[in-house]
Amino acid sequence: MRVLVTGSAGFIGRHLVEALEARGDDVAGLDILDSPAHDALDFFRTDGARYDLAIHCAAVIGGRQGIDGSPLAVATNLALDAWYFNWLVRTGTPRAVYFSSSAAYPVDLQLRLSGPRRLRENDVRLDTFSVGRPDAVYGWSKLTGEILAGHARAAGVDVLVLRPFSGYGSDQGLNYPFPAIVARAARREDPMDIWGDGEQVRDWVHADDVVAATLAALDAGEQGPLNIGTGIATSFNELAAMVVEQVGGGYDPVIRHLTDKPTGVAHRVADPTRMLAVHKPAVTLREGVRRALAAHALTAPVGWDTHPHRRQEAAVTLEARIEALRDHGRHRRACDCDTAEIERHLDVLQAEVAELLRRVPRPDRTPASVTVTAH
Ligand SMILES: NC(=O)c1ccc[n+]([C@@H]2O[C@H](COP(=O)([O-])OP(=O)(O)OC[C@H]3O[C@@H](n4cnc5c(N)ncnc54)[C@H](O)[C@@H]3O)[C@@H](O)[C@H]2O)c1
Repeated sequence: MRVLVTGSAGFIGRHLVEALEARGDDVAGLDILDSPAHDALDFFRTDGARYDLAIHCAAVIGGRQGIDGSPLAVATNLALDAWYFNWLVRTGTPRAVYFSSSAAYPVDLQLRLSGPRRLRENDVRLDTFSVGRPDAVYGWSKLTGEILAGHARAAGVDVLVLRPFSGYGSDQGLNYPFPAIVARAARREDPMDIWGDGEQVRDWVHADDVVAATLAALDAGEQGPLNIGTGIATSFNELAAMVVEQVGGGYDPVIRHLTDKPTGVAHRVADPTRMLAVHKPAVTLREGVRRALAAHALTAPVGWDTHPHRRQEAAVTLEARIEALRDHGRHRRACDCDTAEIERHLDVLQAEVAELLRRVPRPDRTPASVTVTAH
């Protein structure tokens, strides 16, 4: 099948491309992060190619800071989505996936005062006069996108609308809470910062499950809207505690709540009933944390500027990492690293070994004796 994925260098797009290629699809990707950049807006305006399936992940978001701080930048999604749906109809592309968001749900259903409540797909009714107030311009753009999806459907395109909750994974940008919390803990920061009072609750769903649910919904001929979540409520404080526990080794930081930072709604959790009919989440949050810490251990700098008396410690760290990398090379689905990433980390380690030897002429242990190769 010929598939177009927009936002293919982004978090979900990357994983989707990998999964589609693994199942034998012929995938074309578009992202402004490509070199040279491929702007989906230009493509939709000018290109006439017809694909069997077009999955639209391209969007301007920037995490909570972007959503709250740059509403006009986020508003460019309105143009991007409008041109996407026009292009689908113009080219006669028969099947499409529109990534909406849990941000499309009314904010007043997600307040602490409204009590714990799972969000159901029909909490947003586009066929009524009242859709509530979605989450910022970002939420409005997704709601508008869903309306446009309806018009594209009426024009003959079979559009699947998805509403992911808090997608996370090891290779997500640090402007998202999950990777930021993992990185702070992996560096053993003390105090460890959490935005807000940490009581804000999210439904954390691993990228593998977002991708698997997307493909399963497509295979099942679903049109959605479909929540992509687990239905499990976990606060930032609980997530931080889980990460700290897995870091272990006596790490027990003071949690510093940064109450001046944007935090979003108080309680955002999916009712996953509809999704469960096509896909059951496979990666628990605990497992996602384990994978992220494992991936982090491969990439964090060793710190060559430490005093020479710590060289043995540094050498041991390096050797442990090389071993870990070899292990990940052997069982690379154990973390979220792909082969290219592992090769890159191995190159970095090789350079670090060389640097260690340059700075410490007679190390207590000799990591250079270890041949660094990917398996
Ligand atoms: N990750 C989540 O948890 C989550 C949750 C809800 C909704 N979503 C939606 O899923 C989709 C994918 O999210 P993500 O997490 O991968 O976001 P992301 O920010 O990681 O990726 C979006 C990608 O789109 C690209 N892009 C932006 N403008 C573009 C343009 N004009 N042309 C080409 N590429 C462009 C960006 O460079 C980026 O790589 C988005 O629509 C997002 O709103 C994601």
